This record gives sequence, C-alpha cells and structure tokens, in this order.
Amino acid sequence: MTKKRVLSGVQPTGNLHIGNYLGAIRNWVELQPDYDNFFCVVDLHAITVPHNPATLARDTYTIAALYLACGIDLKYSTIFVQSHVTAHSELAWLLNCVTPLNWLERMIQFKEKAVKQGENVSVGLLDYPILMAADILLYDADQVPVGEDQKQHLELTRDIAIRVNDKFAAEDKPIFKIPDPLIRKEGARIMSLADGTKKMSKSDPSELSRISLLDTPDDIKKKIKKCKTDPIMGLNFADDRPECNNLLGLYGILTGKSKEEVTLECSDMGWGKFKPLLTDATINALTPIQTKYQEIMADKTYLDSVLKEGKEKAENVANITLKRVKNALGYLVINS
Ligand code: TYM
Repeated sequence: MTKKRVLSGVQPTGNLHIGNYLGAIRNWVELQPDYDNFFCVVDLHAITVPHNPATLARDTYTIAALYLACGIDLKYSTIFVQSHVTAHSELAWLLNCVTPLNWLERMIQFKEKAVKQGENVSVGLLDYPILMAADILLYDADQVPVGEDQKQHLELTRDIAIRVNDKFAAEDKPIFKIPDPLIRKEGARIMSLADGTKKMSKSDPSELSRISLLDTPDDIKKKIKKCKTDPIMGLNFADDRPECNNLLGLYGILTGKSKEEVTLECSDMGWGKFKPLLTDATINALTPIQTKYQEIMADKTYLDSVLKEGKEKAENVANITLKRVKNALGYLVINS
C-alpha cells in the first residue's frame, strides 16, 4: 500500500524557537515513518516582510540543518528549498487568478502583520496564503502538520482546492487532493515568555520572549529566570493563569509527562523551585539537537547534496501536478 503524503514547511526568518519545534517539527519527526514526507524551507515566504539579502541564504541552510538535527530522517523524508522548485511560484500565480480577493482580506495573520508593517505592507504579504496553498496542493498532501496559528490558512487551502475542482475538473477526476490540517493539542500554541496571552513569535522584538533552538544553556537559564509569572502560591493549570498554563505545559511536553503528572509534581511548588526544573528540562531537550546541528553545519557539502537531491525529488512530484493544473485550465502545451 502506498503511504499517505505529508507536507509542511518553516520560514527561514532567523532562528527557530521552541514554539516552532513543539508545534510543528517535533510532530513531523514522530509522524515520518508512517508517511511519505516533504519538508520545505519556505524562503519565498520569508520575503513577504522586509528581509535582509545578506542573511537569507545562511538562514535557509540553518533551517535545513535544524530539520536534520531535530530528527528528520532522509529514509522517510525529503528536505528541499521552496525557491529551488519553480512550480511553487507558478502554481501560486494560477491560484491567484481563481481566488477571490476577499478570501485573502479575511486572513487574521495578514491583518495582524499588516498593522505592524504600516504603509510598507507588500502585495506578497496578502498573497502569502496562496503560495502556501500552492506548496501543499503541488504535493497532493493528505496531512499538513502545523501549529494552531496556521489553521485558517489550511482552511483557505481547502477552499481553493475545492473551488478549482468545482470549476475546472471533470466530475470523476479531481485536480487537487483536499488536504487535512494536523494540529496536535499539546504544543500547538506555545506562548511568549514575556506575556502568557501572546503567541511565542520570531518577530517579537524582545529576545527574552522566546527560547531559540540554538540558545546556550546560559541564555536559557536567563530567559526562564526572567520570564513572566504570577504571584499565586502553588502551580496549576488554570484558565485564568496564562503564564502558569504555558510554563507547566512546556515542562510537560519537554519531559514527556502528562498534565496529571505535572500537576501532582508541581501543585505545592513556588516559582523558585519550578524554574530550575524547567530550565534543566529545556537544556536536556535542546542539547542533543544543538550538537547534531553543529556537526551538520560543519559539512556544507553534505547539506548541499541533501538539498540537491531534495530538489530533484520534489520537482518530480510538483511538475506532474502543475502539468495537470495547466491542462485543466486550458493552457497550450507543446511536446518538447
Ligand atoms: P512559520 O515559520 O511562521 O512557522 C513554522 C511552524 O511553527 C508553528 N508555530 C508555532 N507552533 C506553536 N506555538 C507557537 N508559538 C508557534 N509559532 C509558530 C507554525 O504553526 C508552523 O507550523 N505559513 C507557515 C509556513 C508554510 C507552510 C507551508 C506550512 C509555508 N508553506 C505549507 C505548512 C505547509 C508558517 O507559519 O511558518
């Protein structure tokens, strides 16, 4: 039996934080033996907000190396760079022309990011979810493992796929497969260390708001020491304690303990006792990833070969889908 397909991606905008890891990549690693997986570094998405050309290529390497360091295994998975497979941009254009503008204007992430950009907001930022739909639909993905914040983009992807099928496909031959989001309850929304009501984010100006996968033990210690807490005695998962919820949740995921186990262990603790435990759990989880990352980054020839092979495998799948779409849309195709 052929395996179902998974596709997902991360933007090469600076370092990855533990939200990206726990909300997305950790799940990719767990799922990968049961699926045929494509993981891309979405460098075209990275320029939808002002970017630095001097660091884009380096950041792209960093993310690819982190995929491997976190446990993505080439036996099960293909790693590639989005801009290396031109079908992504081409399908995005075709989808642009069949998607109503007001579907994009409704996107929460666009509205939030647009406020931050002010006058400088680009057309690319509005178009971001269409490119994401192209990423997913090109690979006939069955499942798309992402964090909670991407749910609306996945719904849009499904709506676009259904619209294209309705408009252009013969009844028994859909053009696109309709993908499902795969959002795990635990870790789907890791919150900022500075404010338990705000999502941990790469774009937060404060480094203290997030733990990056490549933070040193000293950085981690400092960030957890300074993170926001509350003055209530005893620690528990309570709806009106956002910081406590987030930090206990993080501790549970990083140590593999259930909510009940964490509650039992921590209910009589104060922050002074809990914070060193969370610090150790974080350092223990990140140290092996960092060691492997350093090894991989020291061998660029290897990393290039991974990305070259990934490009070829991805192109083989993506070009077939693109051809199917162009045929359905009525493009003139000449045999070469
Ligand atoms: P990016 O780079 O912003 O985020 C990468 C992944 O990390 C998840 N994530 C979080 N999960 C839990 N808690 C958080 N605080 C947190 N912050 C981020 C995101 O949900 C995401 O899964 N648009 C995508 C990139 C993309 C993509 C795709 C994903 C482009 N094309 C196709 C899937 C399929 C994004 O958010 O990247």
